[in-house]
This record gives sequence, C-alpha cells and structure tokens, in this order.
Amino acid sequence: MLVLGIETSCDETAAAVVEDGTKILSNVVATSSEMHAKTGGIIPEQAARQQIKSIIPVIEQSFSDAFNIKSPTTNYQLLTTKIDAIAVTIGPGLIGSLLVGVETAKTLSYLWKKPIIPVNHLAAHVYANWLEQKSKVKSQRSNVPQFPALALVVSGGHTDLVLMKGHGKLTWIGGTRDDAAGEAFDKTARLLGLPYPGGPAISKEADKFFGQLSINNHQVLKMFPRPMIDENNFDWSFSGLKTSVFRKVNGKRLKVKERQKFSAEIQEAIVDVLVKKTLKAVNKFKPKSLFLSGGVAANKRLKEKFENRIKTEILQVIFHVPPAKLCTDNAAYIASYANFNYKPVDWRKIKANPQLTIVGED
Ligand code: KG4
Ligand code: ZN
Repeated sequence: MLVLGIETSCDETAAAVVEDGTKILSNVVATSSEMHAKTGGIIPEQAARQQIKSIIPVIEQSFSDAFNIKSPTTNYQLLTTKIDAIAVTIGPGLIGSLLVGVETAKTLSYLWKKPIIPVNHLAAHVYANWLEQKSKVKSQRSNVPQFPALALVVSGGHTDLVLMKGHGKLTWIGGTRDDAAGEAFDKTARLLGLPYPGGPAISKEADKFFGQLSINNHQVLKMFPRPMIDENNFDWSFSGLKTSVFRKVNGKRLKVKERQKFSAEIQEAIVDVLVKKTLKAVNKFKPKSLFLSGGVAANKRLKEKFENRIKTEILQVIFHVPPAKLCTDNAAYIASYANFNYKPVDWRKIKANPQLTIVGED
C-alpha cells in the first residue's frame, strides 16, 4: 500500500510517500526554523503563514521524488492514481499550523477519491522505528520491531512513556510533570546564548567539551540536579533545570569553554533522568523492544547512554533508535503509522485537535 503522509503540526511542512509502512519513496521537509531562530522561538502566526506557502510545493515535491518525475505538474493527475491513501496529522500541535495540513488533506481526499486516515503526531513518532532508508536492503535490517514494546517519545512539546501491546494498543505509564525534554534543551540553550532549536546546538557544544577530555578522563558531570530520578514512578520534571541554569549563568556572558561545559552538563542532566526512568520501566514491564522517538531521540549522547546501560545491566530488550533525520518531524512516520493503524474516516469528520495526547484523549 502506498500512503501519502502530510505533517504540519509545528514549524515543519512535510510530505512523504511510504510503501507498506516501511519503505520511504520520498520524504520532503520544509522548515521555517531559521526564521524562528531569529526570534529565539516559534511565533505561531508566522509558522502558520509559512505552512500555507509551503504545503502545495512540498506535496508536489514528494510526488516527483517518489515517482522520479522532473516536472510534476504535467503528470500530476496520473500520479495521484498511484497512491492508495492519505494520512494527515490532526494533533497535537499549533492550531494554525495543523489546520493547513488537515484542510489540504481533506480537499485532496475529496478530489482524488482516496481514503483519509487521521494521525496522532505523538503516537506516530514511534513509527520512525519501522522505516528503512531507501538504500538499505531488507537483509541488513538488524532488528524487526516486536511487541510488547516500551516507547519513549521525547519531542519539543511532549515527554511520554507508553507501553505498546500492539499497533494502536497504547497504555501511558509516565511523562513529564512540567516542561518537555526538548523544551528543556531549547530554553536552557537560550540562557546560554545558543540558537533555536536548542537540542542540536547544546549537543554540538557538548561534543566540543567531550572532545577536550582524554578517553580515560571522563569527568562525572553533576553541576545540575536530576529531579525525581530515584522516585518510584515513571515521571520527569525539567522546569527546575531551567531555573538552575538561570541562576548559575546569572546574566554573565559565558566564555567559549564555559559554554561548552554548561552544555555538556545540561545534556548529561537531561539524558541521565531519561535513561534511568526508562530502564526502570524496562525492568518492570520486560518489553521485547524499546523504542526511542521524537526530536530528542536524535541526541547522540542519549543513544550512547542507553546502549551502554543496556549492555552493562544485561537487559534483554532490543533497542531501536531511528536515524537522526527520521527522529525530528517529518511525514514518513505519519504515513507509516497510517499503514499499521489503517482506520480511514469520512473526510467531513476529520478535525484538527491541538490538545490530543499520545493515547488519543484531550
Ligand atoms: O519531534 P520534534 O522534531 O518536534 C516536535 O514534535 O516537538 O522535536 C523537536 C525537539 C526540539 O526541542 C529540539 O531542540 C529537539 O527536538 N532536538 C534535539 C536534537 N535534535 C532535535 N534535542 C537534543 N539533541 C538533538 N540532537
Ligand atoms: Zn514531533
């Protein structure tokens, strides 16, 4: 089955064509993040306006990439007959941005007479673990995802831990009580004078800090607190980190080396609590697979720490992390989700829902 995925929940406008939920034929992402870098964060109205400009060119590009067409407009009508369904993010996200994708997808569903599947952006993030790159042959896939699974979704607005008994069978077991992990990266980066989005910026600075250390000189980084790390639950709290960084920076202009050290300390504080609480859940629920997903899953240190701890604690779980560019927002996992959770809905009944949670309530 060929699914066209459409994603416009925040500042990315994305469209992708995916075959059978796993094979990416095209994956186009236009982002307005450079515009938001100038203001240090997203301005919803500007993000929505940019969505309107990008949506049609991005969908056209996804068709021409998928079917190797040089001039998509001439063969457009013909190309639309090749896809079997349309999948679209309905929430959570910014209402102005969501509406652009939802209304476009509904119109295309009506015009092309294709089934349309509403997609929960958070639950869909996990499906980046089902996708394989175009260049990979099947036999090179090391680990096929297996249920029951535990999924950690760490994005800019959400941090959730869910058990998956199967496709669409999700139970929420924990999450953040305040800021999301990505938000903690973004806000503390701003305090350090680093650009938006903060996660990749902090990670780059932290790499420079680690680069200064000799391999045998791994310092224990403990400048910032790890709230709730030993509590008997699967929850997190990240808002205190922001306050703690604010106090330590204290309005100073940081020197280059200081900023690198702060970045490494912040990254370590976030990674430590994410790994500890998630592996505690692995020990309790004994899932076959552990999935990382969401923009923060692109963090190298997070992946490394999970891998190390799983190895040293000899945990019997298959660890999956998508390649970095599939972790951050794109439409390939939206299409993949729809393939494995194929529930078409009459286009008239589809509505954007900015408050949707990972288990589908608001
Ligand atoms: O999933 P995503 O692309 O968008 C949302 O659905 O929110 O996640 C974006 C978040 C941002 O907070 C960004 O700073 C963070 O993911 N992020 C990272 C990295 N790349 C993106 N955080 C840490 N390390 C990274 N390499
Ligand atoms: Zn996302």
